[in-house]
Amino acid sequence: MSAKGSAAPVGVVGCGWVGLVTAAGFAEMGKQVIGVESDPERLASLRSGEVPFHEPELAEVLEACSERIEFTDRMQDLADCEVAFVCVGTPSSETGEADLSAVDASTGALAALEGPAIVMKSTVPAGTGARVREANSGALYVSCPEFLREGSALEDFRSPARVVIGADEGSDRAADLVEDLYRPLGAPIQRTGLASAEMIKLASNAFLATKISFVNEIANVSEQVGADVTEVAEGMGLDPRIGAGFLNPGLGYGGSCFPKDVRALQALAGSSGYSFQLLSAVIEVNDRQKQRVMEKLASNLGSLAGKRVALLGLSFKPGTDDMREASSIFLAHRLAEAGAEVVGYDPVAREMAQTVLPEVSLAETPLAALTEADAAVLVTEWPELIALDWSAAAEAMSGNLVVDGRNCLPIDDLVGCGLVVESIGRPRREGDT
Ligand SMILES: NC(=O)c1ccc[n+]([C@@H]2O[C@H](COP(=O)([O-])OP(=O)(O)OC[C@H]3O[C@@H](n4cnc5c(N)ncnc54)[C@H](O)[C@@H]3O)[C@@H](O)[C@H]2O)c1
Repeated sequence: MSAKGSAAPVGVVGCGWVGLVTAAGFAEMGKQVIGVESDPERLASLRSGEVPFHEPELAEVLEACSERIEFTDRMQDLADCEVAFVCVGTPSSETGEADLSAVDASTGALAALEGPAIVMKSTVPAGTGARVREANSGALYVSCPEFLREGSALEDFRSPARVVIGADEGSDRAADLVEDLYRPLGAPIQRTGLASAEMIKLASNAFLATKISFVNEIANVSEQVGADVTEVAEGMGLDPRIGAGFLNPGLGYGGSCFPKDVRALQALAGSSGYSFQLLSAVIEVNDRQKQRVMEKLASNLGSLAGKRVALLGLSFKPGTDDMREASSIFLAHRLAEAGAEVVGYDPVAREMAQTVLPEVSLAETPLAALTEADAAVLVTEWPELIALDWSAAAEAMSGNLVVDGRNCLPIDDLVGCGLVVESIGRPRREGDT
């Protein structure tokens, strides 16, 4: 590695959520950044100053830093970088293992430059770094897993809970460079070996997913025994050994990370000869949780054939238009299979939903979605949906059932408007109860 100095541009490969936020974050810190993007449509929109997805603040920061960021499709343009952050997708393959084709293509192309150190931000199975180094004659390689959350991604870049930097012998100098880049953020920095850094990311996501499935099972038992899971979770969360985070029962986890990362860790464990039994249950509980909403609809409405059901919120969580493995997809498919007419509303994911959910008619407003609906399911806890005028909603609907899939609606208000509310892990509510 030559002594190019801190003026060398920072390279970013793959300009999706992680890559674009990484590029914007370092540009905001005063660095020159070069982003490589292989999708021509995405590249064209980035070059014309458009952000191809919804992420708060991102468009503004990219515009403010536009003189320090350039976008290209040529990996050779990173030849003068000291480090290049690899931020390409690692989706699930059919067997549940991570599909590493984009990782292999980009690391191979980077190694051929014989300049920048490869810094892996994509979530990859433990052992990937060692394999990439071997395939590319010991290229400099650092694992720096990403923990940002869509919807607050830039804030997470600026104030991470920790920065994990993993490297094996021979890549220490590259790890130092990564540490230099992150040190101004003032976050705790953990230096580890390569495989440990890779495992930290997978273990963290698997643990959070486990917490979600655990509290969902507690919710299901609470329903049976007449307890209110909101009170149960609050009481549990007050114990600092447990912590209050990720104890919100609901439709289960979805999105671009948890489902695929849990499957990837399960597959990684399996291929290393270890059966990770807990994760199998976590996945099963998560799948079942969405089915329970279908059961609640059926137990109240009887046959769903010909019924109009409004899905409120389509993205996998608020603050994003990302619909990868969103609960809305499962529900829309099951409802359509049952012969229901499905209408959906989302404040930002409309365009995404047009492609992903062609069977759903998309409404311009929540009230339009609710008009003449027999039932509504709150799928994504967007603030504007929680704060809806529920009395107008009750008037617009032809039925009166609302399934609160995120336990976030003001139940007393809804019941006061004559609605019947089913939620997760709490008693069914209707007038005078
Ligand atoms: N999205 C998140 O919230 C999040 C959080 C933490 C970690 N991660 C991990 O980060 C990685 C990226 O996730 P994402 O959500 O940003 O994915 P994404 O699909 O939004 O973006 C990946 C980008 O890489 C581009 N790309 C693919 N191959 C390329 C190549 N050879 N050269 C240049 N560009 C290429 C794609 O066109 C796409 O624009 C994944 O491994 C994911 O698990 C994601």
